[in-house]
Amino acid sequence: MKKNILFSYEQSSLVYIEQLQQIGAQLQPEINRIVDALECAYDTPYAFINLSRDIKLRDYIHTMVAEKKKLNPTVLVVIGIGGSNLGTIAVHEALCGKFYNEQQPDIKVYFADSIDTDYIYDIVLLVEQELEQGSNVLINVVSKSGSTTETVANFELFLYLLKRYKKDTYHQYVVVTTDEHSKLWEFAQEHNFTHLIIPAQVGGRYAVMSAVSLFPLALLGVDIDALHAGAQSMIPTLIHTDLSHNISSLSAAWLAYEYQHGKVIHDTFIFSVDLEGVGKWYRQLMGESLGKPNAQGKPVGMMPTVSIGSIDLHSVAQLYLGGPINRCTTFISVAKNKSQIVLPRWQIFDQLVAKLQGKSFPDVMEAIMQGVQRTYTKKSIPFVSVVLPEKSAYYIGQLLQVKMLEMIYLCYLLGVNPFDQPHVELYKKETREILAHE
Ligand code: PA5
Repeated sequence: MKKNILFSYEQSSLVYIEQLQQIGAQLQPEINRIVDALECAYDTPYAFINLSRDIKLRDYIHTMVAEKKKLNPTVLVVIGIGGSNLGTIAVHEALCGKFYNEQQPDIKVYFADSIDTDYIYDIVLLVEQELEQGSNVLINVVSKSGSTTETVANFELFLYLLKRYKKDTYHQYVVVTTDEHSKLWEFAQEHNFTHLIIPAQVGGRYAVMSAVSLFPLALLGVDIDALHAGAQSMIPTLIHTDLSHNISSLSAAWLAYEYQHGKVIHDTFIFSVDLEGVGKWYRQLMGESLGKPNAQGKPVGMMPTVSIGSIDLHSVAQLYLGGPINRCTTFISVAKNKSQIVLPRWQIFDQLVAKLQGKSFPDVMEAIMQGVQRTYTKKSIPFVSVVLPEKSAYYIGQLLQVKMLEMIYLCYLLGVNPFDQPHVELYKKETREILAHE
């Protein structure tokens, strides 16, 4: 039997379980709504919960991936931003590492998620090199609304490039993932592009288990069946009414408690470089889901920060340990690495740092993390810990599902709508006006 990811809070959260249970008891109506949603397929605001149970979706993605692989693509360009690409980057980096493209994979991947000229120009050069050599490049444009400025601009650019090299066949190399009947959907139909649906009630930041991420991930070799299986395996636990069995409601109750006691920052401190993308995905999930006025019009929100151990101990640890205690922390680590490094017993290094010789890197990392957590405890800085048994699609699926449900529960406790982001529209509107008048 597979294990589950581990959540510990008893000693370190600095809150008694009875207090958390009291807060968690308020979640009953929301848990009931989620239980009901399990019967509603995609016809519910909580539609995301049913994605990992959708066998037809996975089958369709496998068919599409097989079809596109027949074109022998050597590069995939994913064009999207926010919820339309953060989940894909999170899962891909967690499983394939930060040096994936340098390891000569069958299909390299580039994420066009900005319109920073130099950044995108570099991707254009790399893609053009492939096209010049006669290789094939796939473009997957992902946008729920189909009208995000950055995404449309990049799509236009890369489509133009593709057309220059594949004058008559370019349409085969484009996959559009969007809402049914968006303008982008209509555009895809007109141009005979393959198109994948995002269910209407699945919002961007809850879309990681949908075609948004499944298509690019499966094309790049990620085991999407295992990703879904992990997410699905957590559902019975995450709708449990007893908070001590439900790590999403437990974590949400703890975060709500901390917020109500002045902790306005939630740091996700990840002791795994490859999981940085998961931290950034969560940053969007918390930032956009929680940061808005509640029903009484009072602004709510916790600042989600991401720290990477041990790198960031040498940049922000002083602030964390010496500055104001306005922050609570979730540590995330992985129990078993894919590889092993053991230091040689080399005595000339004794003079630099004694006691390192012969130690393994995981042991040193663990000592550093324990050292940090011990210091947090001594300074009464509250934290909880999540440990993944290993970096596999199954456990990443579990982690993402836990975090999405945690956010639903936290938003309910703090009285805000987890699914909208009305204030993001403000800057989009200004931008459109500026562009229209230039
Ligand atoms: O979570 C969200 O809904 C947003 O962050 C969107 O994902 C983001 O704004 C991109 O929008 P779209 O997918 O419509 O291009």
